[in-house]
Amino acid sequence: MYQERKINDDLYWVGANDRRLSVFEGVFAIPRGVSYNSYLLFDEKTVLMDTVDRAVQGVFFENIEHLLKEKDCTLDYIIVHHIEPDHCAALPELILRFPEVKIIGNALTIKIIKQFFDFDVESRALIVKEGDTMSFGKHSFTFYMAPMVHWPEVMISYDSASQILFSADAFGSFGAINGNLFADEVDFEHEWLPDARRYYANIVGKYGVQVQAVHKKLVNLKISMICPLHGPIWRENIPWYIEKYHLWSTYTPEETAVMIAFASVYGDTANTADILAGKLAEKGIKNIAMYDVSVTDSSQIVAEAFRCSHLVFASTTYNMGIFIKMEETLLDLQKHNLQNRDIALIENGSWAPTSGSLMKKLFDELKDIRYIAPTLTLHSALKESQLAELEALATTIAESIKQSRAKSFNHE
Ligand SMILES: Cc1cc2nc3c(=O)[nH]c(=O)nc-3n(C[C@H](O)[C@H](O)[C@H](O)COP(=O)(O)O)c2cc1C
Ligand SMILES: [Fe+2]
Ligand SMILES: [Fe+2]
Repeated sequence: MYQERKINDDLYWVGANDRRLSVFEGVFAIPRGVSYNSYLLFDEKTVLMDTVDRAVQGVFFENIEHLLKEKDCTLDYIIVHHIEPDHCAALPELILRFPEVKIIGNALTIKIIKQFFDFDVESRALIVKEGDTMSFGKHSFTFYMAPMVHWPEVMISYDSASQILFSADAFGSFGAINGNLFADEVDFEHEWLPDARRYYANIVGKYGVQVQAVHKKLVNLKISMICPLHGPIWRENIPWYIEKYHLWSTYTPEETAVMIAFASVYGDTANTADILAGKLAEKGIKNIAMYDVSVTDSSQIVAEAFRCSHLVFASTTYNMGIFIKMEETLLDLQKHNLQNRDIALIENGSWAPTSGSLMKKLFDELKDIRYIAPTLTLHSALKESQLAELEALATTIAESIKQSRAKSFNHE
């Protein structure tokens, strides 16, 4: 049964949700599910914006066939903003059902479609490039290339008639759409922002420079609505969300806050992390985030590292290395190009602790990393004799947080 939703008189959401998939792209936990958004525009021509993942294509076709029948239209065009299979897997089936449809994409999009699929692409392809405009009646779309937001072929489009930006993966979020299609219909800041940040940091976090480049192309556009390929549609408070993208893409901490992430086999490193967190709280630090990396999806640590200004990593030494789960997490962070953070490290080892220097080596490859204290070394368990050292570490972190707060307050 169809489940499309009306956005305005000309535009419909024809996507679908997947609440059963446990890991998106085989790696990111999505306990709140995910939506694959597709949009259908009715004008003199009928235009589909992207398709959906194979897992949900049944309802997607019910949506578009129902609407086309109701409006007595055929499908003229599909715009492929992003060829990744979560948005294109239904393309071959679309071509079977609507053999006359023309495919609008840039040259690289068309090339990659041919790599994925065997249907005749060439005879249906309409190639667009940066700044090209296509009119479908009263709506005319301008295309902007957005390379590496998330793949090199990504493009976004702007409908000047309705001032709607079709933003591809940009401004998207993990999380299924639970009826409320618009961001202003949900408590986005509390219910959605953590997943939107996790989506950004993990999917495009590495490409801050490219996100900034797209940002510059859009500054002069009047945007009434943002239609992303995942998650809710934006029609209110758009500058607030754009500002989040600005912070994330410039690797500016979103909040002056601390995250402690630890790895511990027997519990002594965990114990030290807990004591440190308690001391920070006693020094007035609020909203401390703390994670055991053994049981936390590394996408969550990556997202929290994009949010927080101060990061503490504490790890057991393991076979002369960093404990495996911590190493995985830190490599993930490194691959996402994290920058501009205040860091403190704690290592633990019973005979030759090395995890501290090895963690530092990983962070040394990132830009603007400031070690705010010497590495604290534990030899199996925290001893009474080291409490003063831990206290000093807590004081340094707390003072640094307070200084950063004062600085950002003065800038406001
Ligand atoms: C498989 C394994 C390998 C280890 N390798 C090292 C090592 O190379 N060097 C070292 O000093 N300690 C090593 N350790 C010991 C732990 O790092 C040490 O006992 C530490 O105190 C554990 O802290 P935890 O209580 O937080 O797990 C190893 C432990 C295990 C289980
Ligand atoms: Fe993508
Ligand atoms: Fe996507």
